[in-house]
Amino acid sequence: MLKIVVCVSGGGTNLQAILDAIDEKKITNTEITAVISNNAGARALTRAENHGIPAICMSPKNYPDRAAFNQAFTEKMCELNPDLIVLAGFLVKIPETMVKKFSNRIVNIHPSLIPSFCGVGYYGLTVHEKALERGVKVTGATVHFVNEGMDEGPIIAQKAVCIEDGDTPEILQRRVMEQAEWILLPQAIDDIANGRIEVVNNKVRKTEKTEIKLQK
Ligand code: GRF
Repeated sequence: MLKIVVCVSGGGTNLQAILDAIDEKKITNTEITAVISNNAGARALTRAENHGIPAICMSPKNYPDRAAFNQAFTEKMCELNPDLIVLAGFLVKIPETMVKKFSNRIVNIHPSLIPSFCGVGYYGLTVHEKALERGVKVTGATVHFVNEGMDEGPIIAQKAVCIEDGDTPEILQRRVMEQAEWILLPQAIDDIANGRIEVVNNKVRKTEKTEIKLQK
């Protein structure tokens, strides 16, 4: 059984997609042992509580400085000792010590096709604003392992989403979530939980074909 801790900052729709996929047995061999948010008001925490999952708030604001937060956050994660950490819309940079301790055991969902529209400053609606500003015709989402860089770890899965006339950042964000994020992230967790993924030379290799259980 893969024990996962999900880290969230906001609405938690990606967390909800994971919870639903576990309930519907589209993700198997997986248990969420805790949800952590840096934001006490995050709806994601309520979603966790509604599922009987421990919901923990840890905010950098409650520590004297970032180093103190990083230490406490890393200690908490070591105490929880998950097999996999899932960043599902988590807006806090993961401390380097945690990345090292959980090497290739942290995954993140990013709402663009990396390496486009990613890196420092590309989060939330900004990603979609920049895609629309540039006039690309296709965007999407990426699930990747987290390394010391920003959105630079090995790519696990990507899915393209078309941009349509009249799109606003909000409309595009919703389409990317519906057509890509809510499918890709649960699928990647199921692949990891069932041993279908390995990292070789900093690249992800699928050891068997993914069973497409989440395609809409
Ligand atoms: C998603 O677009 C995610 O990719 C991004 O932040 C958003 C989080 O949404 N990093 P939610 O909290 O899962 O609803």
